[in-house]
Amino acid sequence: MDFTDKRLSYDKGELDQNNIPVSPFELLKTWMNQALEQKVKEPYAMSLATCGANMKPSVRIVLLREITDTGIVFYTNYESAKGQDIDENPNAEALFFWNELERQVRVSGSIAKIEAEKSSAYFQKRPHDSQVGAWVSEPQSAEVSSRDVMEARFEALKTKYPENAQVPTPEFWGGYEITIETIEFWQGRANRMHDRVVYTQIDDTSWSTKRLLP
Ligand SMILES: Cc1cc2nc3c(=O)[nH]c(=O)nc-3n(C[C@H](O)[C@H](O)[C@H](O)COP(=O)(O)O)c2cc1C
Repeated sequence: MDFTDKRLSYDKGELDQNNIPVSPFELLKTWMNQALEQKVKEPYAMSLATCGANMKPSVRIVLLREITDTGIVFYTNYESAKGQDIDENPNAEALFFWNELERQVRVSGSIAKIEAEKSSAYFQKRPHDSQVGAWVSEPQSAEVSSRDVMEARFEALKTKYPENAQVPTPEFWGGYEITIETIEFWQGRANRMHDRVVYTQIDDTSWSTKRLLP
């Protein structure tokens, strides 16, 4: 397939480096709210890039669950391929692409497990069958011989934990937070003259900003 004649001109907005909040968290929340208002489907879905000791980057979608005062949180299986990457290299990037707004946000920083109590509190709020599903994936990313094997595991776990029974939080499941060190906001513009502004953390309360060539 050839896509060389496929191109769009972007004209939905602009990003003025001289007219942005001091805190990138404010801008991230504003953009996220605008994406929600514009009915972007799952604007909190993000590509998460990790790289383990084998030096081979690996990327997949996960769902952002919280923007904290220091970073962004998602939940997963700690024994998954990404979990192993993170054990070996605590640097990660996450990327949001909101096509409808012609915007991209790129978050970079160090990644660490959140407190087990917080993970468990979230796990216990999830729908019962999602909780059971988390137990099926032990360990996530391992080979499974067939869908039938997965379904049988699911049914066995549903018998063990019927609808009204509490599903324990698996030790191998929980949240990670990427503490934001740099965050780049990208707004598509006409003629490939896009706006790119990157915030870099200076200390706990201050950030520097730079405009980057598109
Ligand atoms: C829309 C969407 C949302 C997803 N959300 C999550 C998530 O929040 N956590 C998660 O572990 N996997 C999520 N996944 C599955 C991951 O993309 C991936 O398949 C899985 O985590 C295994 O990745 P790994 O083998 O690189 O560890 C999601 C996939 C899609 C398409």
